Amino acid sequence: MVIKKNINDVEIGMILAQEVTGPQGVHLIPENTALIEEHLTKLKQWNIDYVFIKVESEDERIEKEEIKTRQIFQKAYSNAVTCLQNIKQNISSEKAIKIEEIEAPVKDMMAKVNENRDVLMQLTRLNMMENHLFSHSINVCVYALVVGKYLNLAGEQLLELGTTALLHDIGMVKIEESLWNNNRPVSDNSWQHIKKHPHFGAEILEQSGGYSRKIIEGIKHHHERINGSGYPLGLKGDEISFYGGIVGLVNVFESLTAYRKYREPVIPNEAMKIILAKGRNHFAPEFLRALVAHIAIYPIGSLVMLNTGEIAQVTGVNPEHPFRPKLKVLFDCERNQQTKARRLDLKSKKHETTYVTKTINQADIDNLTSKQ
Ligand SMILES: [Fe+2]
Repeated sequence: MVIKKNINDVEIGMILAQEVTGPQGVHLIPENTALIEEHLTKLKQWNIDYVFIKVESEDERIEKEEIKTRQIFQKAYSNAVTCLQNIKQNISSEKAIKIEEIEAPVKDMMAKVNENRDVLMQLTRLNMMENHLFSHSINVCVYALVVGKYLNLAGEQLLELGTTALLHDIGMVKIEESLWNNNRPVSDNSWQHIKKHPHFGAEILEQSGGYSRKIIEGIKHHHERINGSGYPLGLKGDEISFYGGIVGLVNVFESLTAYRKYREPVIPNEAMKIILAKGRNHFAPEFLRALVAHIAIYPIGSLVMLNTGEIAQVTGVNPEHPFRPKLKVLFDCERNQQTKARRLDLKSKKHETTYVTKTINQADIDNLTSKQ
């Protein structure tokens, strides 16, 4: 937004929306200059009466704030990636995994979950890497912390759960990558070997020392299911450790919703339906309840269709109204792309007749807009 400002109202730090020219069009101060005291003095000396200043609209301010928060959170995410890369190297050179090294990124993420869990969860969708072992482990850690927090875990317990989650698949580094990171069907022999990764992971931590029994059991049990259909031990019900049960559940949610070389991701509310259909026999009901209630149905960044015919992107979640997120309209009902995105909060009275009809993906948008 641009406004015309009288020279007496111009302040230091304001940004020029147009260059300031003198008599005969002499260039005095270029466009986009952030004004300093010297400029203000000069403008008065040159008898300039007014200038055009850039003013941030409320939407622009929110947008900027969102980008800033995302960048800070991304740093925490990237630190966790570096930590896992170091750990992988340490295992290859037979060095111990020091618990303090792994706890640092977990603590950082615990703080971010408290600050704004929705922005952190958005990162789980943005960080899809070629080597998905890292992004998968971090995403599982984020979801486990969110679920754990709403199961009233705090302090040391939440830290232990986050550590279990971040390291749950660490045993995979003992398995040749070509067996699990490709888009070919896995042979029966390879599968029997891959199924040993919970055991390998527990072994690595036992040899490293310093990890509690609960963490080691959590890693051993993250593929066990309460009806006994899991692996490697086929444990049932209460035989499965607390951390192992939570990490097992969020592991399935992450795997369904993440990008993989061989398939498209499932959108979160569809993933919830899949898990609920089968999950009752696989996971403890209180874990399922926490997942459904606290992992966003419409995560930030996801695309939705509205009953007005508009297409919007989710920019925020209203935890007390999970079906009424905050949105930014990308296309109007005639599929015209909006250059200045309109923002709406479905929680507000003003928008009480507007609602989300379905979640869509980028390919749906391409289809809908190309038909115009
Ligand atoms: Fe696993």
